[in-house]
Amino acid sequence: MTKLEQIRAAEARLLLSTYDRNPILFVDGEGAYMFDENGTKYLDLLSGIGVNALGYNHPAIVETIARQSRALIHTSNLYYHEGQAELALRLTERTGLDRVFFSNTGTEAWEGALKLARAYAGLRRGEGARIGTKFLALEHSFHGRTFGSMSTTHKAKYREPFAPVVPGVEFVRLNDVADLRAKFSNEVCAILVEAIQGEGGIRPLTQEFFSEARDLANSTGALLIVDEIQAGMGRTGKWCAYQHYGIRPDVTTLAKPLAAGIPLGAVLCTEEVARAIHAGMHGTTFGGGPLACAVGIAVIDTIEKEGLLAHNTEVGNYFMGRLRSLAEMHGTIVDVRGKGLMVAAELDSADLAKLTVAEMLKRRILINCTSDTVLRFLPPFIIERSHVDTAIAALDEIFQEHTAAHSAPAGGKHNG
Ligand SMILES: Cc1ncc(COP(=O)(O)O)c(C=O)c1O
Repeated sequence: MTKLEQIRAAEARLLLSTYDRNPILFVDGEGAYMFDENGTKYLDLLSGIGVNALGYNHPAIVETIARQSRALIHTSNLYYHEGQAELALRLTERTGLDRVFFSNTGTEAWEGALKLARAYAGLRRGEGARIGTKFLALEHSFHGRTFGSMSTTHKAKYREPFAPVVPGVEFVRLNDVADLRAKFSNEVCAILVEAIQGEGGIRPLTQEFFSEARDLANSTGALLIVDEIQAGMGRTGKWCAYQHYGIRPDVTTLAKPLAAGIPLGAVLCTEEVARAIHAGMHGTTFGGGPLACAVGIAVIDTIEKEGLLAHNTEVGNYFMGRLRSLAEMHGTIVDVRGKGLMVAAELDSADLAKLTVAEMLKRRILINCTSDTVLRFLPPFIIERSHVDTAIAALDEIFQEHTAAHSAPAGGKHNG
């Protein structure tokens, strides 16, 4: 039995079967590449689902982890350490919000955002405002797997096995302003959006829809909450995707690349919303520990030192340009969209999308497929044009082979 086979057998016996893993055992990484146990090199265009923003073995991250782990890894939130305020300052300066709560994961950050909305609505009711407890979320949204996050996530398959979910959530059709207006009322405490939906298929909000959500929320004192867990931290060429729209949310959430693979999430809000929280209302044992915060600081400093916001825009535009040229040759690509290094190529067939991911893997390139037909690329911020060229050449070959196989005369195999 190979080591991989042993591990697969042990996992099959010992773990809950939540994941349908690819049969690869990764043991190492460098730059934009990972290596399996045989030393085979894979180009990573998914970066651990948008987490490993600085790729693998980045000296700034490795050195920070080594230094900080020699000092302190965990303190609990009963005491001060040097990292939280320093990271919070960097985040507030870059996101335009005022205050931060640190969590461990994306879903936990989103739970914090939902709790803030309910607490703030309660505060406002106490002050005489007419405001309810309902959430408006969007169709195709994804906010995580814990109860509140799952309840505000649109896909039924994520919610139904765990029913009853948290009540008081209504879904609005994506970018349908009339539907948003019809469902909005004084009952709503928050409108929940991703500026660019990730799991939903890299679907951006329209300016009109986003602006309307901001205006409606302003009209009653409801909150506009933007989930930047996948799109944020510079992936789209700005620190937050909402900054492309010139919109300031009341609350936002960050996670995935925040500490380059060390679990860390954050909820950020305005000074006004922060009034709703006082000591003891919310908390976490691990969130915002010294190690995670030190790495978070190093991530931001490295993104700036290496000019990665502009780089993401430049390489992302190049990537989308090359995908658009590919779409001219292969009608199976029906749309190319994205921002910076959050890139999608939508195909006309779910089967082909699945096959393409598998064929890319055979060619040692990691991507995935979301929303059935959408090839999703969330590469590390350090990729270069040459990595894009490698991916485009592989996709071209895969689509050519697919076309050849499907345009062969019926029964051609046997006749030929
Ligand atoms: C937009 C968005 N929100 C929330 C989450 C949940 O984050 P986590 O998996 O860290 O709990 C994800 C994860 O994919 C996400 O993409």
